[in-house]
Amino acid sequence: MAGNLGRADAGQIQAWLEAINEFNSTPEFGTTRVLFTEPEVKAREYVKGEMRKLGLKIQEDAIGNIFGLYEGTEPNLAPVWTGSHIDTVLNAGMFDGMSGVVAGLEAVRLIKEAGLRPRRSLAVVVYTSEEPTRFRLGCLGSRALAGKLDAAAAYALHDAEGKSLYEVLADLGFPVGDFAQVAKKKDEVFAAVELHIDQTGVLEKAGQTVGIVKTICAPSVLEVTVEGRQSHAGGTSMSERRDAYMAACEMALAAEKLGRESTSEYTTVTVGKVQVIPNAVNVIPGKVLFSLDIRDADFAYKNKLAADFRQQAEAIATCRGVNVTIREVNNDHPMPCDAHIRQLIEENCRKLQVPYMQTISGAFHDSMLVGEFAPVAMIFVPSHGGISHSPQEWTDFAEIAAGTDVLTETLLALASA
Ligand code: GLV
Ligand code: MN
Ligand code: MN
Repeated sequence: MAGNLGRADAGQIQAWLEAINEFNSTPEFGTTRVLFTEPEVKAREYVKGEMRKLGLKIQEDAIGNIFGLYEGTEPNLAPVWTGSHIDTVLNAGMFDGMSGVVAGLEAVRLIKEAGLRPRRSLAVVVYTSEEPTRFRLGCLGSRALAGKLDAAAAYALHDAEGKSLYEVLADLGFPVGDFAQVAKKKDEVFAAVELHIDQTGVLEKAGQTVGIVKTICAPSVLEVTVEGRQSHAGGTSMSERRDAYMAACEMALAAEKLGRESTSEYTTVTVGKVQVIPNAVNVIPGKVLFSLDIRDADFAYKNKLAADFRQQAEAIATCRGVNVTIREVNNDHPMPCDAHIRQLIEENCRKLQVPYMQTISGAFHDSMLVGEFAPVAMIFVPSHGGISHSPQEWTDFAEIAAGTDVLTETLLALASA
């Protein structure tokens, strides 16, 4: 049956990616498409339009996840999902997330073109806000599907303007009254496979086209607030000052050291957001807020690292005469990918003669949450220099096409099971 499949069209993939990339609030510097801003809403409409052209049936849930359904011959069976996200971080590239959505569209196009209709339905999914850009929490759509973000949580999440996720959804006309129906039960989805760009650079370095993900590392996000004493830069002697910024720097360096000295398989520690108050040349900062993003393939190790950081931050605060408070914003679980689907992907790489390797995902993905209720796997394609979350992000369309061929065969096999 799979023999009738054509090969993914790199030109079609490029056309879709470039069209989505037109919906951009920062065309002068990379791509910015933040959840439910005008470009993001327009990009959703565009993708839905392309789904319709492919003859997919569109469904949207209360949190705005989009499902483009290609019905199987036994539509009552649990479906197979593929997809990713179309929102971006600030000043991003055009591949992170979008590649997975476009690969899903291309896979279904190929399956339909070959006249194939497997038993199980296939759904191309656009998950709402994988990036934490607007609400400081990532994977909103997949989190809700996993039963970890309900209506009350959507009320409690606020953007920088103080608007709750729930209000934003209601204003846009999403059926917020149906929030309770978003979460999936364990047997509702047969399998989910997400294609994504590699964001570490290992594939390019190893000269491989596909990465079969073993584990998706998960983040803990801490919000650290350091309070010292605001005072005059010239008038306060070096021994008298209680400088919140210098204390925060020492804490950040302590966190970095914990990350560098990790004995876990994969750990990263990042201070990505810093707010200095009052942020003036001649004033000793009285208050600093910074984010600490800790990722690990091992949940217990991540928690131990976070606990060690707390201890060290408190010791630094005492030593420097400042106060520190640490709030856990979230703490996700790393997700192992399903052994059977990984095996299928491997077989398809061999069959299609696509060079592949096993890898780990340092980035989180919607599959990390989807894995809470369905077997998941991920297919990575190379990113130049591993650069991502940057306007320099680049993946060759031909390599996305090669990954899409592996995805298509894998989806077909799963949907035929
Ligand atoms: C998702 O983009 C992440 O930060 O890993
Ligand atoms: Mn990303
Ligand atoms: Mn992504």
